[in-house]
Order: sequence, then C-alpha cells, then structure tokens
Amino acid sequence: MAEPNFAPGLEGVAATHSSISNIDGAAGLLSYRGFAIADLVAHSSFEEVALLLLDGVLPSAADLGEFDRGLRAHRQVKYNVREIMKFMPVTGHPMDMLHCAVASLGMFYPQQELSDAERENTPHLDAMAMRIIARMPTIVAMWEQMRFGNDPIPPRPDLSHAANFLYMISGREPDPALAKILDSCLILHAEHTINASTFSVLVTGSTLTNPYHVIGGAIGTLAGPLHGGANQKVVEMLEEIGSVQRVGAYLDERMANKGKIWGFGHRIYKTRDPRAAILKEMMENLASHGHLRHSRLFEIAIEVERQATERLGPKGIHANVDFYSGVLYHEMGIKADLFTPIFAMARSAGWLAHWREQLADNRIFRPTQVYTGEQGQGYIPVVQRS
Ligand code: ACO
Repeated sequence: MAEPNFAPGLEGVAATHSSISNIDGAAGLLSYRGFAIADLVAHSSFEEVALLLLDGVLPSAADLGEFDRGLRAHRQVKYNVREIMKFMPVTGHPMDMLHCAVASLGMFYPQQELSDAERENTPHLDAMAMRIIARMPTIVAMWEQMRFGNDPIPPRPDLSHAANFLYMISGREPDPALAKILDSCLILHAEHTINASTFSVLVTGSTLTNPYHVIGGAIGTLAGPLHGGANQKVVEMLEEIGSVQRVGAYLDERMANKGKIWGFGHRIYKTRDPRAAILKEMMENLASHGHLRHSRLFEIAIEVERQATERLGPKGIHANVDFYSGVLYHEMGIKADLFTPIFAMARSAGWLAHWREQLADNRIFRPTQVYTGEQGQGYIPVVQRS
C-alpha cells in the first residue's frame, strides 16, 4: 500500500478554504477580509474589526452599534466563575487560569454539543461568539486583581473594549492615547489565518463541541513559546541581555548553542512581519510624543532586531509580531505574564470567525499517520517479562 503523504508540521498543506484573512509571506502583507491591516489599524476599532471578521463585511453604523452594545452588556461574568478562580493558585500562569475559566463557562451555559438547528442558527452562534469576546478581558482583569488579593474591578459599560480592559487591570481612568495603542494591538492580533491555535479551533470545532471547549483548546495552543507565548519570552530575553552593548555577544552565544531568538521567524513570512513594523512605528511615534517611555528595553530591542536580522535575515528569518508587542505592553506598564492573555483576548475574534466558517461547511478532521511501530507482537504476561 502506498505510504500517505507526510508533511512535518503540515508545512504547505492547505487544511481548509477560508475567506477570513490572507498573508502574502514574500511581500510581508496581511489583510482581513481583503482590507490591509495597516488601514484597519489607522481607521478602525477592535470592535469593528471583530464584527468584520465574524460577518465578512464592514458593518453599517447600526450593526456596529448593536454589536458594541452587546459587548458592553455582556462583560460581566457569573459570580460562580469568580468563585472558581478564587481557588486557583495565585502563582499560576494567567494563561492557565484563562484556559480553565473559559472552559468553565461551558458549565454555566451548558451545551455539550451543537444540534443541527443550532449550527444553522446564525443569530444564536453570533450571540455565543459575542459573549465570549466580551468576557475574556473581564476574566483576565479579574485575575490580575484577585491574584494580588484585591476585589475584581467591575467592567464599565461607558468605555470601549480596550479602554475598559486598561481600567479593569489598573483601577485608574485609562489614558486615551494608551487605550488607542491597546486598541491597535488588539486589531493587529485579532486574526492570522491557519496558525497553530486557529487550526486547533478547526479541529475542535469540527467535532461540533461547544465554543467554550473550542476557545479553551485554542488558548492552550496559543500559550506555547513557539506561538503566542513568545511575546513574554522576548521581554525575558531582552531583560537577560540587559544592555545594548551585550546584544552581539548574546546573539552569537545563543545561535552557537542552536537556541531560538524569541520573536523571530515565521512559517509563512519570509520577510518582516508587517505587524512588527506597525508596532515598532507606533512605539516610536508615541515615545516622541511623550506618551510612552523610550526605555532601555526598547533600545535593546531595536539593536537585537538590527543584529539578528543581519545574522538570520539571509535565511528568511525576521522579526514577527511577538517581537515588539511584548516590548510595547511592557512600556505601557503591563506585566509580562499578561501579554499572551491579551493576545488571546484579541485572537478570540479570529478564532470565533473560523469556528463559524468551519461549522458552515463542516467535516470532522481526521488525518492519517505513517505508522512506525511494531506489528503482530505476542502478549507476554508481566511475570515472564525480563
Ligand atoms: N531563531 C533562530 N533560528 C531560527 C528561528 C529563531 N527565532 N526561527 C527559525 N530558526 C531556524 C531554525 O533553527 C531552523 O534552522 P535549521 O534549518 O538550520 O535547522 C530554520 O530556521 C527553520 O526553523 P523552523 O523552526 O523549522 O521553522 P518553523 O516554520 O517550523 O517554525 C517558528 C516557525 C516556530 C515561528 C520559529 O521561527 C520559532 O521558533 N521562532 C521563535 C518563537 C517565536 O517567535 N514564535 C512566535 C511566532 S509568531 C506567532 O505565533 C504569533
């Protein structure tokens, strides 16, 4: 029998048809529903981009207003979710907390599987998606307060998605300029074709399980350092380097030991990730207008990008979105272990758009394998085994 095709990491294998986003990896271009990412960052908001991803078109003012009101109205999470969170270890990583808390929502809104009628009921799926997008920032911010022994700060319906999150994690009136930066970051992280976590959405969603399992699985997948977890690793790496003067020696030593430079490389982009370029420019603009510090870490990051690109650029390895997002959040005073949860909050929009697309034309994922194990072994009772 012919051996099945095997592509490690499924490189180059098309796993689905999708009309949600597109990457031109050679040119370094990214678009959502055909709109260039730079245009969306310049003119749109996270709320509008989330609806664009879910519905496929730029919404009318009335539709956007309705969606935004829905997000604001559903920010609260059930008191029992907070009770569950109270028993989680405060030293645990916020991504682990988020994974558990989102999965627990499925118990409060029980729906073990989607019936055919529910799968075809667009408003019902829309409502489920909107509520998950609305609640994830609240869960992350609740944890940020609870792990330091504080009561969670209730969400404020008068603030935008980004501004409300900044308010809930700090308890302070959010600086509009910082809320705008966070909004841009949420747009940049909202969607990115069939990456590992989105692929997990397709696989989990294809079993017709509820969306809380789907998003819980995606959160777990995003957490790894090769994926969304890299933004935290970047800042830890920059801290470890410690000074601009040490950059060259650090990179040489790390590469000699076959270590990865965090925030560099991408399966699809063979040039600089356009999101990294936008983030860097945003940081420079904000620093020059006094909204952000131009810190030592940012200076080190610029030097790491310059020197790492000299070394790795010829192999098509360049800075990716995670290289500057962590630095930017750090400059905003956000703790490093919240970087990936913020990524997840944003990506929930893209994940749920892909979940909807999968359900609209579903077939369960069931790939094959190349078996490399033994055949036809005779069972040996345990007492006879040497
Ligand atoms: N630093 C040093 N070398 C690298 C890096 C890096 N960051 N990334 C890739 N390479 C090298 C590999 O060592 C390998 O070299 P070799 O051919 O000599 O063995 C070659 O480039 C190919 O790398 P792979 O890991 O096979 O590429 P793949 O497409 O499987 O992985 C990935 C892509 C996971 C992003 C990889 O580049 C990486 O580990 N980067 C660092 C982690 C990171 O920043 N992840 C965030 C990605 S963006 C996101 O998920 C939001």
